[in-house]
Amino acid sequence: MPGAPVAEAVFADLAPRIERLRAAGHEPGLGTILVGDDAASAGYIRMKQAKAAELGLTSPHVHLPEDATQGELVAAIEAFNDDPAVDAMLVQHPTPKELDYEAALARMDPDKDVDGAHPVNMGRLALGLPGPVPCTPAGIEALLAHYGVPVAGSHVVIVGRGFTIGRPLSLLLSQKRPTANAAVTVVHTGVQDWPDHTRRADILVAAAGVPGMIRPGHVRPGAVVVGAGVRYEGRRLLPDVDEACEEVAGWITPRVGGVGPTTIAMLFRNAVEAAERRAGGTAAR
Ligand SMILES: NC(=O)c1ccc[n+]([C@@H]2O[C@H](COP(=O)([O-])OP(=O)(O)OC[C@H]3O[C@@H](n4cnc5c(N)ncnc54)[C@H](OP(=O)(O)O)[C@@H]3O)[C@@H](O)[C@H]2O)c1
Repeated sequence: MPGAPVAEAVFADLAPRIERLRAAGHEPGLGTILVGDDAASAGYIRMKQAKAAELGLTSPHVHLPEDATQGELVAAIEAFNDDPAVDAMLVQHPTPKELDYEAALARMDPDKDVDGAHPVNMGRLALGLPGPVPCTPAGIEALLAHYGVPVAGSHVVIVGRGFTIGRPLSLLLSQKRPTANAAVTVVHTGVQDWPDHTRRADILVAAAGVPGMIRPGHVRPGAVVVGAGVRYEGRRLLPDVDEACEEVAGWITPRVGGVGPTTIAMLFRNAVEAAERRAGGTAAR
């Protein structure tokens, strides 16, 4: 289940919507904030800006120095909150450890939160209210739907309860909608015999960040396996799902190019939806 075809389908849907916004005089804008000079983070920002330009979004950018204060980060966020040219924004994560990312995020206008990570948006997700959904979970739902994996009524087991993937994905896939509506189990370090759960999964999602932890013996033969957790060692990407799981799984994401492309696609979907809301909702569509 490569992510690129799913992402392409999302971008194909967004292109005419962006065109309509621009034709109506609303230039959609995705603001980006980078703190410090971490090469990987700077690379992610460049990639997002290049994609924004390709799609026809502006991308106002603020680069704060490594020793920026919490007050400077909050001021940058609040300036974007008030900037009519910014429909959606992101603060590249991780920020330097002296800064409190969560506290800064809480100062963001939730309607401009492209990552769907603001507490208000997590609350909307829990309550099933409309709003930006965290990008990796939204991308996993889109990936499963694209490949025709039946999720409704299936047993999904998620390894990890982190706030980027596991927790929001469990909320998303248990919602009463045709591409969700699953029985969801979440396992973590508090569940000693987690393989007992994963072996019974129709759909297994690895979101722990522990390289190679999901081995063939943890997978029910024929099950669908989504590898989302990764750890980087330098430039080397180490996925949670051991390569040998390919022999056992029915469907599986590739080690590289699975949920990465769908995450980016959902980020732009959130940005365009934010722009549509600000331009007058469905009037712009
Ligand atoms: N592919 C992408 O586009 C993408 C995007 C974002 C994040 N990620 C990756 O996704 C992973 C998860 O990120 P996150 O922020 O959601 O979570 P996180 O905060 O990194 O938490 C990891 C979760 O995995 C659980 N876990 C760790 N080791 C375990 C073990 N040995 N057995 C059982 N459970 C274990 C932890 O349990 P406890 O709660 O008990 O500690 C925790 O709930 C990370 O590897 C991150 O790099 C990938």
